[in-house]
Amino acid sequence: MILIISVLPALLLAFGFNSLLRRHEYLLYGFGICLAVPSAVLAAEGIPAGLSYPVQMLLAVFSKGGLAGALFLVVMFTGALPDQSKARKKLIPIRRQLSILASVLAIGHGAGYGTVYFVRLFTAASELKTVMLSAILCSLLLLILLLPLCVTSFIAVRRRMKPAAWKRLQRWAYLFYALIYGHIILFKWHAAQKGEREAVLTVILYTAVFAAYLGMRLCREAVRRKKEDLILPVLLMTFLLTAGVTAACLLPEAAASREAQAFSAAGLAQLPDTNQNADEAGLQAAKTPAPDVLPEENARGLSGSEVAVQAVETPASDVLSEENARGLSGSEAALPVAEAPDSDDYFPEDGIYNGSAIGYNGRLKVSVTVQDGRISDLALKSCVDDEPYVSRAVDGIFPKVLSDGSLQVDTVSSATSTSEALLKAIEDALGSAGGN
Ligand code: HEM
Repeated sequence: MILIISVLPALLLAFGFNSLLRRHEYLLYGFGICLAVPSAVLAAEGIPAGLSYPVQMLLAVFSKGGLAGALFLVVMFTGALPDQSKARKKLIPIRRQLSILASVLAIGHGAGYGTVYFVRLFTAASELKTVMLSAILCSLLLLILLLPLCVTSFIAVRRRMKPAAWKRLQRWAYLFYALIYGHIILFKWHAAQKGEREAVLTVILYTAVFAAYLGMRLCREAVRRKKEDLILPVLLMTFLLTAGVTAACLLPEAAASREAQAFSAAGLAQLPDTNQNADEAGLQAAKTPAPDVLPEENARGLSGSEVAVQAVETPASDVLSEENARGLSGSEAALPVAEAPDSDDYFPEDGIYNGSAIGYNGRLKVSVTVQDGRISDLALKSCVDDEPYVSRAVDGIFPKVLSDGSLQVDTVSSATSTSEALLKAIEDALGSAGGN
């Protein structure tokens, strides 16, 4: 979705403002910086809640790297178009400017998310699971490559370099493009495998677009080297690559999740082993239709199957093993984020307190109003998680916390990470106020 929205302004800029870009490039970079700074803040702090869906999408185009990515796509495809194509002739003179603008915007997006993810990498790397660790390492490498590529795109710098050295350095752009694709797929991996629509679409779209680029680039090279007979195998290879990546990413866990839900409906799944991680535990549960349900679960009114489904549907488990500690073992999958208040002085003095926690895509913030020793109001202040999940989590969690006066509520199964983060943020707010 973000890709589709972002491609339009990128194409408009490239074709509609072509001559302006040639004549006033520094004006454009200044404009880029003006957009990059708020984008970084939004990526780090979350998009303010309560805004309409179109406004949220518009902000996401900048903060989630959509426009930067779309501009890089224009730059990439320009290099892959045939020499005689009109579009190539029009775009080649502004390719440099577009890539500098894209870099400025990407720095904003990357720096913002970096405040969440790089901090995790340097403070809790051993607790990160493989997919998330790979996504963060990809992103770090992206930023490291981006800087020399961007700086050497300025004419003044290029002129000081030997042409061969400049060309050698710019070849790293191919790795950079691959890493853009890689970090997107890795960050979306678990949500896509769970069959979440937005993530599935994102994976399919980016895979198709990057495969098309690869195919066109290789065909161009085949023509240049007068090896036209390679074109068909190249096209076949890129098609298979697209189908393979899409299938690998989308099929296995989505199937397991459906399977687990089927078992859940039948009340057949078994509790996973407490030492397994969420994915393994959930999958194991999904694959093991044993009727055992621990009495502990019965006491909470949860069947083993519900616990198993929650374990399957816990993408946050991928973010941190802090989640593992809480949400990964089957018997703990439905445990509350905080213990219920058991005395009258549990909550702090009346007032409004703010708290934050890391959701699926980054930080979210809540404000908690305490009145007469009870939570009287809850509000989501900002969030970067995707909208349908945020609404589901807020609608599922806030009314329950308000009515029960406790954080001991079940998470919303279709928005587990965001639900857990909401509960943690409320807990954080109460904790910072001296409650808990
Ligand atoms: C430097 C070049 C970078 C570019 C061009 C870039 C571009 C993108 C694009 C196009 C998306 C997909 C947006 C969508 O359609 O949903 C994305 C997602 C994402 N990027 Fe980057 N990115 C870059 C660097 C980084 C860095 C350094 C980080 C830091 C951790 C990062 C973190 C993320 C995250 C977390 C997402 C998922 C956002 C979400 O779905 O909410 N990116 N990026």
